[in-house]
Amino acid sequence: MGQETERVRELRARIDEANYRYYVLDAPTLPDSEYDRLLRELQDLEDRFPELATPDSPTRRVGAAPLADFVQVSHGLPMLSLNNAFSSTEVAAFDRRVREGLGRGDGAIEYAVEPKLDGLAISLRYENGLLAQGATRGDGYVGEDVTANLRTVRAIPLRLVDVAVPRLLEVRGEVLMLRRDFEHLNEQARARGEKTFANPRNAAAGSLRQLDSRITARRRLSFFAYGVGQVQGMRLPSTHSAVMDWLANMRFPVAPQRRVARGVAGLMAYFEDLGSIRDSLPYDIDGAVYKVNDLADQDTLGFVARAPRFALAHKYPAQEELTVVQAIDVQVGRTGAMTPVARLRPVFVGGVTVTNATLHNEDEVQRKDVRVGDTVIVRRAGDVIPEVVGVLPERRPMTAGNTPLHAPFRMPTACPECGAPVLRLEGEAATRCTNGLACPAQRKQALIHFAGRRAMDIDGLGEKLVEQLVEQGWVATPADLYRLAREQLAGLERMADKSAGNLIQAIDASRGRPLARFIFALGIRHVGEQTAKDLARHFGSLAALMDADEAALLAVPEVGPVVAASIRAFFREPHNRAVIHALGEASAWQDGEARAAPVAGPLAGKTLVLTGTLPGLSRAAAKGLIEAAGGKVSGSVSKNTDYVVAGSEAGSKLDKAQALGLRIIEEATLKALLNGEVI
Ligand code: IVH
Repeated sequence: MGQETERVRELRARIDEANYRYYVLDAPTLPDSEYDRLLRELQDLEDRFPELATPDSPTRRVGAAPLADFVQVSHGLPMLSLNNAFSSTEVAAFDRRVREGLGRGDGAIEYAVEPKLDGLAISLRYENGLLAQGATRGDGYVGEDVTANLRTVRAIPLRLVDVAVPRLLEVRGEVLMLRRDFEHLNEQARARGEKTFANPRNAAAGSLRQLDSRITARRRLSFFAYGVGQVQGMRLPSTHSAVMDWLANMRFPVAPQRRVARGVAGLMAYFEDLGSIRDSLPYDIDGAVYKVNDLADQDTLGFVARAPRFALAHKYPAQEELTVVQAIDVQVGRTGAMTPVARLRPVFVGGVTVTNATLHNEDEVQRKDVRVGDTVIVRRAGDVIPEVVGVLPERRPMTAGNTPLHAPFRMPTACPECGAPVLRLEGEAATRCTNGLACPAQRKQALIHFAGRRAMDIDGLGEKLVEQLVEQGWVATPADLYRLAREQLAGLERMADKSAGNLIQAIDASRGRPLARFIFALGIRHVGEQTAKDLARHFGSLAALMDADEAALLAVPEVGPVVAASIRAFFREPHNRAVIHALGEASAWQDGEARAAPVAGPLAGKTLVLTGTLPGLSRAAAKGLIEAAGGKVSGSVSKNTDYVVAGSEAGSKLDKAQALGLRIIEEATLKALLNGEVI
C-alpha cells in the first residue's frame, strides 16, 4: 500500500507539472501519449484503491455525472464591472479623477495595465489550498456553481503550491477559448452538421454552462487570473502587479502582456502597443484594463455604484456588430468561383463602415441559414474581409402565418454575369461558372489580376477602367492591352488625353517583366506569387514551363500533384496558348536562366556518383543513361549524393560513401532505377 501511495503521489506530481507546462507556460515537455499513459495508470490505481482518491487529483479533470441544475452561490466579495472609455479624452478624464481623489500631480500615478480578455468572469474559491468552489459572475452578487466544469480546465490549479497557503483565497479571472481551439471545435461541429459558435466567447460560455461536465472536459477552455477577491489568513503584497506575480508564482496563468505604466502617456502607449499585436494574440481581447497599482490607493478611491474608481476598461472599436441583410448577391471571381455576398445596412465595425460581407460559399450560407431581412452579426477583424458570422433567428421577419417572410438562399444555376451553366465539383466548396474567359466577369477579374501590383504592375489600370475596356469590346485578353491606342482611350468616360497617355506609358513600361511576375499574372489556379517564383527559377523560360510534363513539374520541390495538374490544364487550353503567343509578340515578359535545366525522368533531381568499373556499362554510357533519366552525375561524394554506383576496384569514393552512410548500389540496381522501379 505504501508503495501505491508513493506512486500515486509521483504520478500526480508529474501530471500536474505536465499540465502546468502545457496549459500555463505554453511550453509542453511531455508527449501526449506519455501523458495519457500516466493518467491511465493513476486512474487505474485510484480505481483499485479508492481510499487513495483525492479531490485535487488530475483524474478529476475529466468531468463528472451531469447535474440537474446549477446551484446559486453568493460571492464573498461582489464581482463588479468596469467603467468603459473609448477615447484618449476619456482616459485623461479617468486619470484626472484618480489624481484628484488621491491628491497627486500630473503623471504621478502608476498603473498596472493588462489586456481586457474577451471571455467570462469567474471566481475560484480555495480553502486551505484546495479548489473548493468555482462560480460564474452572475449578477455580480450571486452566480452559479460551476465547480465540476472548472475542474476540467487544465490551466486552473486544483491545489495551491506556495510556502504559505492562505486559509481562504478567491482568485478572479477570465475563462476563454483560444482561437485555435475555437476553430477546431467549429470544424468538428461543421463536419457533424451541427450548429457552430459565432465566436470564441460564445463557445466558452456555452461550454462552461454545461450541466454535463464531461462535455466541458472535451472543449479545451483556458483561464487567466486578473485579480483576487476575499483573502483570509495572509497579507497581500502592496501592489496589484505584485499580487499578479504572486498568483503566477502559485502557477496561475496570468496574461503575459501585463505591464506597469505611468500617467496618461504611458496608458496610451500601452493601448497602441497592445492594439498592434491584437490580431496576432492567441485569444480575443476587446480592450486594455488600467488599474491603479497601489492597493492602498485603490482602497482610498473606492467604488461608485457598481464599478471601481481605481480601474478603467479602454475599449478597441468593436469587431462585431449587428446589422440587417438587405440583399444577397453572387459575385463571380477570376477562376469563375461564385461567392455569395450579403449587402448590408451600413454599420461601423472594426473601425470602418461596412456595407458588404462575404458569405464564402453555398454550404456556408445554408449552414448559417442567412436570408434577406435577417439581423446578422458582422465581423471585421484586422485586414480580414468582413464576414457574416451568424443570424439572430428571433429577429427574422415573419409572415402573418408565422412562416419566414423570405425563402432560404439558393445558389443560381446560371452564372449571373454571362448566363452560362454553373458547376460544383464533388468535394469542392466552390460553385463555378463554366464559361471560362468567355464570361465577362472572369475576364475582368483576370485582367485586374494581370495588371495588379504584384503581377505586371500596370499603374492606373484599375477595376473601373478594366470594366470600361471590356464593355467597349476593346479588351478581351491581357494581350489586347498591348494593342490599345492613346486616341482610342482618350474617348473613354472621364479620361483626359493626359491620363490616356499615362496609361499607354504604364502598359508599355510593363513589357519585359521578369518571368516570375508574368507566370503569376497569368492567374493559373493554385499558382500564387511564391509558386510562380519557384517555377520561374526552376524552368528558366516560359517555353520550358509550357512543355513540362507531370514528372518535370513534380521535380520542382514546392509543386504537388494538384498544382501540377492545374498548370498542365492551363497550358493545354488552346485559348490560353493563343493569348500567351500574342503576349510573346508584345514582349510582355523576359525569360530568365534555367537553374540547371532539369530533365524529367525516374532520376529527376537525383545526384549520383560513379566509382570503380561496372561490369556491363562504360562510364560514359552510364553517365548518358543517368542524365537521360533526369539525374546528375557528380565527380565527388558529399552528403547531397543520393546514390553511389560502385563497380569493381572502387576506391576512396566508396570509403567516403560508407562513412557518410549513403546508399551504395551496383549496376543491376542502377538499371532498375533507370527503369523507374522503386528500390
Ligand atoms: S478587473 C473590479 N481585469 O471585464 C474589477 N476584468 O467589465 C473587476 N475582464 O467582468 C474586473 N479582462 O469579465 C478585470 N484584465 C481584466 C479583465 C477583466 C477582462 C472582464 C471581466 C469583468 C469585466 C468588467
